[in-house]
Amino acid sequence: MPYLDDFRAEIEAFLTRTGISPTRLGKEAVGDPRFVFDLREKGRAPGARLMDAVADFMARHETPATARTSLGEAPLEGKTILLIISGGIAAYKVLDLIRRLGERGARVCPVMTRTAQEFLTPLSVGTLAGGKVFIDLFDRDDEHDVGHIRLAREADVIVVAPATADLLAKMAGGHANDLATAVLLATDKPVLAAPAMNPRMWLHPATRRNVEALGRDGIRFVGPNTGEMAEANEAGPGRMAEPLEILAAIARILVPSGMPLTGKHVLVTSGPTHEPIDPVRYLANRSSGRQGHAIAAAAAAAGARVTLVSGPVAVADPDGVDVIHVETAREMRDAVVAALPADVAVMAAAVADWRVANEASGKIKKNSSGGSPALALVENPDILATIGKHETLRPTLVVGFAAETDDLASNARKKLEAKGADWILANDVSPGTGIMGGEENVIRLVTAAGIEDWPRLAKTEVAQRLIARVGEMLRHKSEAAE
Ligand code: C5P
Repeated sequence: MPYLDDFRAEIEAFLTRTGISPTRLGKEAVGDPRFVFDLREKGRAPGARLMDAVADFMARHETPATARTSLGEAPLEGKTILLIISGGIAAYKVLDLIRRLGERGARVCPVMTRTAQEFLTPLSVGTLAGGKVFIDLFDRDDEHDVGHIRLAREADVIVVAPATADLLAKMAGGHANDLATAVLLATDKPVLAAPAMNPRMWLHPATRRNVEALGRDGIRFVGPNTGEMAEANEAGPGRMAEPLEILAAIARILVPSGMPLTGKHVLVTSGPTHEPIDPVRYLANRSSGRQGHAIAAAAAAAGARVTLVSGPVAVADPDGVDVIHVETAREMRDAVVAALPADVAVMAAAVADWRVANEASGKIKKNSSGGSPALALVENPDILATIGKHETLRPTLVVGFAAETDDLASNARKKLEAKGADWILANDVSPGTGIMGGEENVIRLVTAAGIEDWPRLAKTEVAQRLIARVGEMLRHKSEAAE
């Protein structure tokens, strides 16, 4: 029934775009909160009158004002975030953070240090924040009201982003010689710092000491991440956390119980596995771990406790996630089983199907007579199937990936059955798609009810969409159980 698939795809796109929950759409459009779930799970075709009513509802709610992102309902409505921006190249990311905070209903009250103004203009910050930017300790208008005390009092949380080495040192020393440090010294509200600096500065004993002291004072940290720095040829820990990571850390402080996956344990696998041939060689594949790591980060951002079992990858550990590093498929299986019970398992790792039967204990030498060694392979354990068919600890929702080069849909359907999974996210990894190791992904979501095509999305967006979907599914399950 092709029109039904189109209709479903249109509804899914609408829900993602607007952040309206499927229950609300069903209730308000056709008086049936289960409408979307039935459509998804049973593949039931609604009559023309219901379809018209849904189309009408979607047309009426298609306004930019309702746009929400992955955390679903704006969880920061009515919250005031005092954002202290200090001077660093990462300051440009703060504009995106302000925009995203605004989208979730938060009021952002920016304070800029003098050096921050070398990187961003108060005008651009104020325009995005929709209000005044505070820049000077001796503001004639505000100091009547002891400005820094009032600012410190009115906020629900104080976020320092970027937090430079210098500002962290001042905070640790209790300085108060400008507005930013005065506010930080005068506050009794939670403070979250997102450090950003050169790796050598971050690793310097003085910064280590300051960060440790601030931790003891109750200051929370998000990041820094490890990676390339703005300066050429510099890499290491010091990149400011991404706006979405900072947002998630803020949400964890402000609405610890109001997030879609609060109280849930999500288990994720990611990356390739390395199967040793001898002590120096191994079999591997091109998986980068980007998709799995993005899923772990999105689950943490939605409030879940996340265990990420990762093969060897170059991407950094996501913030706020318990990461277990493994090399081989068997180690991955053991770590996954040890991490149970979980509510949700997303097996995104590209696990090697085979390993070398007899791993050599010493480096295999070239043969002087010119012969090549023969590698005998044996099959690895199937981790997804182990979880999907677990007799006592099977998670409520088991999600697998199917990286295929041909016959995507039918192979994915077979995998659902064979591995005991609930959903399979199938992606075409043929050469030329750029998906394996790349930044984007094109997903077909295969469930018992049917197939849904997602547009080409960044892997981070795929992750958010999947996690939003997981949240809805769990909510629906618990509503049905009540
Ligand atoms: O390799 P295959 O296409 O069968 O993988 C599909 C799904 O199964 C993926 O989610 C992958 O993470 C999982 N898998 C696994 N253990 C294996 C092989 C695959 O968990 N040994």
